[in-house]
Amino acid sequence: MASRISTRQFARGLSRGSSSPLVSSQLSNHARYLATPAHPVTQDATGSKGPTAMVFLNMGGPSTLPEVGSFLSRLFADGDLIPLGRLQSYIGPLISARRTPKIVKQYDAIGGGSPIRKWSEYQNEEMCKILDKISPETAPHKPYVAFRYADPLTEEMYNKLLADGFGNGKGGRAVAFTQYPQYSCSTTGSSLNELWKWRQRLEGKTASETGNGTINWSVIDRWPTHPGLVEAVAQNIEAKLLEYPEERRSKAILLFSAHSLPMTVVNRGDPYPGEVAATVQAVMERLKFSNPYRLCWQSQVGPQPWLGPQTSHTVENYIEKGQKDLVLIPIAFTSDHIETLYELDIEVIGESGHTDTVKRVESLNGSPVFIKGLADLAKTHLDSGVACSQQMGLRCPACKSERCAESKKFFASQQAAISSA
Ligand code: FES
Repeated sequence: MASRISTRQFARGLSRGSSSPLVSSQLSNHARYLATPAHPVTQDATGSKGPTAMVFLNMGGPSTLPEVGSFLSRLFADGDLIPLGRLQSYIGPLISARRTPKIVKQYDAIGGGSPIRKWSEYQNEEMCKILDKISPETAPHKPYVAFRYADPLTEEMYNKLLADGFGNGKGGRAVAFTQYPQYSCSTTGSSLNELWKWRQRLEGKTASETGNGTINWSVIDRWPTHPGLVEAVAQNIEAKLLEYPEERRSKAILLFSAHSLPMTVVNRGDPYPGEVAATVQAVMERLKFSNPYRLCWQSQVGPQPWLGPQTSHTVENYIEKGQKDLVLIPIAFTSDHIETLYELDIEVIGESGHTDTVKRVESLNGSPVFIKGLADLAKTHLDSGVACSQQMGLRCPACKSERCAESKKFFASQQAAISSA
């Protein structure tokens, strides 16, 4: 996704709007989240092209312990994420049932559930408030969240859109905005395939009978080097580095950590490893390569080969080499989730034996820098009149999935409706 402003310009714009330290801003924003109701869509506030539904796509997580089982069973049933072949519907439930008690304990240890819904709803609501100001012609912007494996699921989101007056012969504009900055067919691809599936189920008949009046979809499918993302991550790294004594600070190793992928997915030609590397490069350029750094990969499941090196092994190996000042940086998720709060904080750092020198950078969560970046990215997309990027139309060289082919064809076909709106 092309961006119109540089990281430096982005930071300057932000500094005009906020003079508080980042951490206190995040805390006060968090407090506001608790008190801020979702702003309503009202027709008399509608811009010439509005209202616009802004739909955040993400994997989601169980908000409570009783939801863990259904979350895992949906996750292991998804062949786009965990390819188990023709035995998926048999092996998937077995694995999820076996893992549920262990994962329940992990969610229990981080407070009884995932904060990803809370943060996704907060980020989207705040982004829409900014969009209403900087893009009045597409206002009001209404926030929706569609998770792949937890509530609110894509089906629930789509029914809510229809109930709110989108589609059903009335048309209307919706933007599917992935919250995975780097594209993988396992993550964004899976969410878009699911969105396409529910669009066919809930609106396919209307489309074939009347030919119009369905929701017009466009997609923000990737944004690995967007200045808002880069600046927000860089500021969080700078804040964490200040916790090290000055004489050791520039020698601390920055360990960027992203969720790993099975090598079968990587070798199919998935774009994710390259796009994660692009984010790391952009952040290091913004930091003027102030520190040594490495990219590593976490959350491998099962005995099959996954992309490495694993984050936990990387930390152990550097400690063995005597390098104990290690800064872990979640680089592929936009808020806290079990992989940061449990896997990095409790397992990797907690068991390192060096909790005073192995640290984790704060996740983006309520960062005003990040949320301003999301709004800027969305405005660029809305102004562009483009349904989806050229890159999204390109399938992996070894992709054999009809679902991918049909879903990509559908989103590309939305260009005519978006252009004539
Ligand atoms: Fe990548 Fe189908 S698996 S496009």
